[in-house]
Amino acid sequence: MKNLIILISFLTLINPSSYSSEFEKAKDTIELRQGVMQGIWARIKRLAPFIEVDNNLEYNEQLAKQDAEDIKLLLKKSLTLWPNSTNLSTKNLTNATPAIWAVEEYFNKLYKDALVSAENLEIALNNSDWDKVDIEMCNLGNACGTCHASFRRLLTSQLANEASAWSGKYINKCN
Ligand code: HEC
Repeated sequence: MKNLIILISFLTLINPSSYSSEFEKAKDTIELRQGVMQGIWARIKRLAPFIEVDNNLEYNEQLAKQDAEDIKLLLKKSLTLWPNSTNLSTKNLTNATPAIWAVEEYFNKLYKDALVSAENLEIALNNSDWDKVDIEMCNLGNACGTCHASFRRLLTSQLANEASAWSGKYINKCN
């Protein structure tokens, strides 16, 4: 009887339902941050050609400003989507490398760099300061690219498709 009680309390302790819900939560968080990153990329993809040549009839300055603001907000929102529980690349559930949680400060610094560039990009667009727009687009691309190079694991098959896309050089003027 005593053993049974111990067994029951042990089972409650390792409560499988709470474990699996933590796990589900981590998976949701990973999915959410990947979705947010895709949302950022979708905006960069139409903003960059506009900045470069400025002759897309489907797109205009108003939309560019909106996209810049959205990129800023999405970066802000996604800053909290990296809890320890989502360090699950060994289970192939994320492309985020364990290095993020080993050098969290550096990771957060790169996030902040990206956020500052996005803020400055929005300001420059609102001021129609096109030289500054170029500079901040380069800075932003650099921030995305640096972080991915350090903290995003890619399979060789993915590299072929993605290397040019998110590497970080979004307009030709960047060195
Ligand atoms: C501070 C680090 C950091 C910054 C800054 C950053 N990313 Fe990411 N990004 C990551 C990590 C880590 C992943 C992998 C996330 C995962 O798989 O859980 C990722 C994933 C992605 C993905 C793939 C999402 C998917 O479907 O798997 C895209 C697209 C992306 N980022 C675009 C961008 C763009 C564009 C920028 C810049 C505007 C940017 N990211 C800025 C770290 C960053």
